[in-house]
Formats: sequence, structure tokens, C-alpha cells
Amino acid sequence: MARQYRIAPSILSADFARLGEEVRGVIAAGADMIHFDVMDNHYVPNLTIGPLVCAAIRPLVQAPIDVHLMVKPVDRIVPDFARAGADIISFHPEASEHVDRTIALIHEHGCKAGLVFNPATPLDWLDHTLHALDLVLIMSVNPGFGGQQFIAHALDKLAAARRRIDAAGREVMLEVDGGVKADNIASAARAGADTFVAGSAIFGQPDYRAVIASMRAALAAAS
Ligand code: DX5
Ligand code: ZN
Repeated sequence: MARQYRIAPSILSADFARLGEEVRGVIAAGADMIHFDVMDNHYVPNLTIGPLVCAAIRPLVQAPIDVHLMVKPVDRIVPDFARAGADIISFHPEASEHVDRTIALIHEHGCKAGLVFNPATPLDWLDHTLHALDLVLIMSVNPGFGGQQFIAHALDKLAAARRRIDAAGREVMLEVDGGVKADNIASAARAGADTFVAGSAIFGQPDYRAVIASMRAALAAAS
């Protein structure tokens, strides 16, 4: 079955001095959405960007903005990102005291909701959340930094998440984040991912169009 694949460049590896140009550039080069990594130096040991930057890039592209919250607590900042133009807001279950409430809060603010699984976080969280989710994000690195190595056991987890999503019979995106490159994107697709975050693999190259095209070629060969 041909699956619709989405490539989501993570702007964590973009040139922040030229962020607007970078965002426009990757979309013009064929990317499907912008992955926006929010880190708080508390839930993860790094500090990045917030709603002001999201609002600044929002008018530049039509593509969805996929906000990945690596912050604790989560709820306080959700309305700010919704107002800043986020389309999807994902969070880590360990960072919210009331996961069901956070999912509802994201929906109440008109955004799609995603739940993110660290390498050691069990998929059991899906038992009582999948019915309400729009996206499941499997981390293939420990969150906090770009440019890390893809953790191979994420493939088994993607496959397990894919089985759960298919059994649920709802449309839920299955995203993979961390160390994704043209040479391993096909194995992530075969395991069941349909949405691929790539930061350093795209922004680390001079020709974004060429990298995205090589990712699409690998995906076409995988299906
Ligand atoms: C890691 C972030 C990722 C990261 C991906 O905490 O969630 O989105 O930017 O970067 P690469 O593709 O370089 O691993
Ligand atoms: Zn991310």
C-alpha cells in the first residue's frame, strides 16, 4: 500500500541568523512541514526557541508547523504556541502530570496533538491515549541535541506503533525523529513511519533540494 510520506526538516540545525530564509528555503526545496524543537534546559539539557520565533516564521510559509515540546511543565505554554500559529503540538508524557488533559488542551486550542516516546519510554502510554491522538512520535535519539546517531531499536518500536495505529483504524501520523538520513530513511519507512524529521542531514548540506530528493527516492524504493 502506498503511504503518504512527509519530510519535516528540524530547524534546530538551521542557521538562526538567517532563519526566515532557511524556513522558506527548505519548503521551496520540497519539504512538507517545519519541525520546531522547543527545549527548556529543564526537561532536556538544552535551550532553544519559543512562541515568539514560531510567530515570526508563521507568515513565511503555508506548510504546517510541527511543534515538538521538550519542556516541563507542558500546559502553560500550549496556548501560546497555538496563538503563534502551530498546527501540531507534541509533548512527552513524562513532562505532563495529566496527559489526557494536555491532549484535550491542545485540541481545545485548535491544534493536532502528538505524544512523543523517548527511547526508553514504553508504548503502553498509547493504551489510553491513541484514540485521541493525531500523531505518534518515536524518538530515535535521546532528546536534547541535533546530530546524534540513530538508535536502531527505534525500528522495532516504530513497527509496534504502526501495528497499534493500524489496529485502531484511525488516521494517525507516525513520525520518527533523530539521526534520520537518506541512508536510513527507508528502513524507518519499512518499519512503518510516514513522517520523517531530519535536522543535520538537511541543514548540514548546501543543497537542500538534492538531500530531500535523495530522501524521497529512498522512500519510493522502500514502498
Ligand atoms: C532532538 C530533536 C530533533 C533533532 C533532530 O531532541 O527533537 O528534532 O533536531 O536532529 P537530527 O536530524 O540532526 O538528529
Ligand atoms: Zn524534534
